[in-house]
Amino acid sequence: MIRNQWEEAAVTMFVNFRRIRKCRCVQLLATGLLFCVMMASWDELDHHVVSHLRSYAYRYLVNRYDFPNLTMVISSNHHHSKDGSRSSGGNLENYPYLLNHPGKCTGKNGKDGGNVLLLLFVKSSPVNMERRQDIRDTWGNESFIWSKLGVSVKLLFAVGIQPDVDQRSWVQDSLQREDQVYKDLIQQNFLDTFHNLTTKLIMQFHWKQLYCPQARFLMTADDDIFVHIPNLVKYLQQLLRSQSGAKDLWMGHVHKGAPPVRRKTSKYHVPHDLYPWPSYPDYTAGAAYVVSGDVAAKIYQATLVLNSSMYIDDVFMGMCAKTMGVSPQEHVYFSGEGKAPYHPCIYEHMITSHGHATDVRSLWREAVFSTSSRGSRGFLGHLYCIAVRVMLLCQPYYQNTYSCLAAFA
Ligand SMILES: *[C@@H]1O[C@H](CO)[C@@H](O)[C@H](O)[C@H]1NC(C)=O
Ligand SMILES: *[C@@H]1O[C@H](CO)[C@@H](O)[C@H](O)[C@H]1NC(C)=O
Ligand SMILES: *[C@@H]1O[C@H](CO)[C@@H](O)[C@H](O)[C@H]1NC(C)=O
Ligand SMILES: *[C@@H]1O[C@H](CO)[C@@H](O)[C@H](O)[C@H]1NC(C)=O
Repeated sequence: MIRNQWEEAAVTMFVNFRRIRKCRCVQLLATGLLFCVMMASWDELDHHVVSHLRSYAYRYLVNRYDFPNLTMVISSNHHHSKDGSRSSGGNLENYPYLLNHPGKCTGKNGKDGGNVLLLLFVKSSPVNMERRQDIRDTWGNESFIWSKLGVSVKLLFAVGIQPDVDQRSWVQDSLQREDQVYKDLIQQNFLDTFHNLTTKLIMQFHWKQLYCPQARFLMTADDDIFVHIPNLVKYLQQLLRSQSGAKDLWMGHVHKGAPPVRRKTSKYHVPHDLYPWPSYPDYTAGAAYVVSGDVAAKIYQATLVLNSSMYIDDVFMGMCAKTMGVSPQEHVYFSGEGKAPYHPCIYEHMITSHGHATDVRSLWREAVFSTSSRGSRGFLGHLYCIAVRVMLLCQPYYQNTYSCLAAFA
C-alpha cells in the first residue's frame, strides 16, 4: 500500500512536472512570439511610443520649448510677389477665385443685417457633391438655423480644382451648376489635394478677413463631420454672454505635444528640413474646430508672415496660433477622429462627431428632432444619463470616441 502510495505520489509529481514543463514551453513560445511581433512592429513602436515619450520629455521635463523661431518666418523680401500684390504666406502665388460669393455676409439680401454669429467653412473635395447636399439639408440648413434658433450662420464649402486632369472639365461644370443653385461654394485655382490643405486653410482665413470680418466665430470642418448645430449655437451664445469668453478662443479636440511622423511611408510624413523640432505645437484636430473673430484675424496675420510649406493644415494652424500667442482649448464634445456613440444621453451634449459620410440624415433626425433626443429630465434622469455615458465612453480598451471625462459633463 505504502509503496503504491509513494509510487502514486511519484507519478503524480512526474505528471505535474511534465505539466509545468509544458506550461514553461508555452510560456517560452509565447514570449518568443511576442518578441517577434515587437521586433516586426518596432518601427511603429519607435515612432509612436518612443517619439511621444521624447516629445513629452522635451516639453515637460526639459521645458525649453520655444517654437516656432525665426527660421519659420519667411524673409521680408518674400512678403510681396513680383507684381507688388500681397502673397499668402509662403505661397508666392495668389490663387484667383473661380467661384466666390463676396456678398454672402454683408446682409444686403438677408434679414440678419450682416449680424453673423458663425461663419462655417466645410472643407470639401470637388467630387463630394452628395456629402455637400446632405449637409445643406441637415445641420448646414441656414434657414432652419435662422428660423428655429434665431441666429445667422453662413455656410460655405471650400474646394480647389479636381486634381485628376481627365475628370477636371466635367467636375468643374457640375460644380458651377451646383453653385448656381446653392451659391455656397468658394473655389480657388489650386489642385484639391491632401498636400494643398494648408492652401485651403489660408483661403478660408483670408476670405473671412476680406468678406466677413464681423462674424463672431469661424468654424472649419471636414465634409464627413456631423455638427449638432443647436448645441453648438447654444454654446456660442453662452460664450457671448460670458464676461470674456468670446475673445481669445480656439476650441476643439486638442493634440498636445504630438511628434512629427518621420516614417517615409506614412501619409503624414514630415521630413526634418520641413520641420526640425521633436514635437508640434498644440493644435486642435482639423476635423472640426471653432475660433473667435479676434483669433481668426490673428491667424490671418500669421499666414502673411509664416512659411506655409507645412502641408498638414491643422499643424500649420497650430504654428500660426503659437506665433500669435493663442493656445487651443479642449472641449470634450468636439471629436477628433472619433465617432460619437448613438444614444440620446450623448445627443444632449455632443457638438461634433467624425466619420458620418453616409448617415448624416438619419443622425440629424435622431439627434435633433426625435423626442427621445431630449435626454432624460430631472435628477434621476440626469443620473441615468451619467451612468449610460460612463458605460459608453469609459471602456477599459481603446475606443475611438469622446473621452471618459465627457461622461460627467
Ligand atoms: C531656431 O531653431 C533652430 C533649431 O532649433 C536653431 O538652430 C536656431 O539657432 C534658432 N534660431 C533662432 C533665431 O532662434
Ligand atoms: C431648411 O429649413 C427650413 C426651415 O426650417 C425648411 O423649411 C426647409 O425644408 C429645410 N430644407 C431642407 C432641405 O430640409
Ligand atoms: C497645389 O496646387 C498647385 C496649384 O494648382 C499645384 O501646382 C501644386 O502641385 C499642388 N500641390 C500639391 C502638393 O498637390
Ligand atoms: C519655406 O520652407 C521650405 C522648406 O523648409 C523652403 O524650401 C522654402 O524656401 C521656404 N519658403 C520661403 C518663402 O522662405
